[in-house]
Amino acid sequence: MESDLVPFAHTPIPHLKQFTLVNQTPQIKALMTILRNKDTPRRDFVFYSDRLFRILMEEGLAHLPFSEEIVETPTGAKYTGLKFESKICGVSIIRAGESMENALRQICPHCRIGKILIQRSEDGLAIPKLFYTKVPKDISTRQVLLLDPMLATGGSAIVAIEELIKLGVPENRILFLNLLATPEGVDTVLSRFPSMRVCSICLDERLNEQKYIIPGLGDFGDRYFGTD
Ligand code: URA
Repeated sequence: MESDLVPFAHTPIPHLKQFTLVNQTPQIKALMTILRNKDTPRRDFVFYSDRLFRILMEEGLAHLPFSEEIVETPTGAKYTGLKFESKICGVSIIRAGESMENALRQICPHCRIGKILIQRSEDGLAIPKLFYTKVPKDISTRQVLLLDPMLATGGSAIVAIEELIKLGVPENRILFLNLLATPEGVDTVLSRFPSMRVCSICLDERLNEQKYIIPGLGDFGDRYFGTD
């Protein structure tokens, strides 16, 4: 069962129960192929990233708690269904995570969105530093969707998650959403915070010496915001 979920059998992920890979349909593969292509123009890169983010947000919301709700349909019949049990809050890791905010707003219009600014060193080797946090006052009572399209080493994510925990968010109410993850990044994050969850569109092979994801798609922020 587990090997069905992990496309790279040589890099198993120990905390697999807490990691969800979006169903690898041909549609997902086709959209990701556009993003991975170095010749894709920025307009298309943004358009197809946004489509994938909406798919990712729907998948993410499906992992949050629900409770029973009974409604009456126009036929007069009763229907026993479900409703979302808790309030949610998106928290984007600036800058690339901000690209995911619109997709969350589109499917969850009243959702609060906080921000965390973390600076990585250019070589990716030093420990990332936290510079700024702005989140709703009641964040500790919310389900938190942490947003960053690229889970590479997991260094920035660890700083962001530590900050959320310091603000009173229970670890098991944090769901980290990414477009691309590496086995190393998922393992680093879930080893440190074993009761949170990670959900990604793709699990890539590895990091190179410059800490870029391979095969990857290059620098996501630069391609999305046009700063390359
Ligand atoms: N961040 C990116 O934008 N790309 C990578 O490959 C790794 C981290």
